[in-house]
Amino acid sequence: MLVSPHILFNHCYGKYTIAAVNVFNMEQIHGLFAAAEYSSTPIIVQVTPVARNYAHPTMIMAMIKAAAKIYPKVVFSIHLDHGNETHALDAIDQGYTSVMIDASHDDFESNIQRTKTVVEAAHPRNVFVEAELGVLSGVEDDLSVAENHAKYTDPCQAKEFVDRSGCDSLAVAIGTSHGAYKFSGGKGLQFAVLEKIQQALPEFPLVLHGSSGVKRNDIDEINRLGGALLKNASGVTDEEIKKAIPYGICKVNIATDLRLLWTKVHRLFFAEHPDQFDPVVPGKMYMEAYKTFMIERFEVFGSKGKA
Ligand code: G3H
Ligand code: 13P
Ligand code: NA
Ligand code: ZN
Repeated sequence: MLVSPHILFNHCYGKYTIAAVNVFNMEQIHGLFAAAEYSSTPIIVQVTPVARNYAHPTMIMAMIKAAAKIYPKVVFSIHLDHGNETHALDAIDQGYTSVMIDASHDDFESNIQRTKTVVEAAHPRNVFVEAELGVLSGVEDDLSVAENHAKYTDPCQAKEFVDRSGCDSLAVAIGTSHGAYKFSGGKGLQFAVLEKIQQALPEFPLVLHGSSGVKRNDIDEINRLGGALLKNASGVTDEEIKKAIPYGICKVNIATDLRLLWTKVHRLFFAEHPDQFDPVVPGKMYMEAYKTFMIERFEVFGSKGKA
């Protein structure tokens, strides 16, 4: 059942958090819906502009709608991740239940105005709008932000931003970054900043980007099988995610972990079966591993049994 994030966030605020998982292809959509059905967990299926262009916007939407038929019990939203105005308008027309306008790299005024423009297009059509204040480091789509250009969300600006833009949820920069190399400074999540944001915006749904766990074992395994990922790869710990929930983090974005999983499964399969070349075999293994991975995430997020 397709629902607005309003429903999901009203229910989960302060108690558990919703996995918002980036999908690019059919195997991931199967893995995600199979896990959500198995765990009776509400999910947000999200798609970046790069992913929409990879699969084709029509193709990715058709696959998600097909999954809704194949897994009819799953409660989910369809969200545009890191869009601009053009992507957002297009996603609204396509039937997305929510869109992110990411003008976080603009100055404060421009971020407000651009977010407001999308809100004015989205709200008459009951589409939910996520905006972002603050700048994460790392790579997202084709934009790369060096760590010294990252900026925590300013709690003093947060309320004014939400009031004036009219957004429905706020992505916050509290120390995470996109990709496999988070926290190279070793600082972790900034709970003091998060606490102040919640005080400024009580009961308002907050979003954590860059929430992949980037497990050490997976990095080591990929490297053992011929990969060359940096040794300092690191992610958000389960403890940090759990601790963030009472502060109003209602949505945790995950993309990198499932990309690493793809790499691990395929490297392992082809290393062990150098004579094989049928994509169906590792593809099936990836779907199964994806499902297992997400079932475990839902337990950590507390969303198991909440659909
Ligand atoms: O920020 C979200 C994703 O990690 C970026 O994924 O390759 O589709 O842009 P992308
Ligand atoms: P990760 O790179 O930690 O998976 O974050 C994904 C994200 O924030 C998508 O918007
Ligand atoms: Na951003
Ligand atoms: Zn993101």
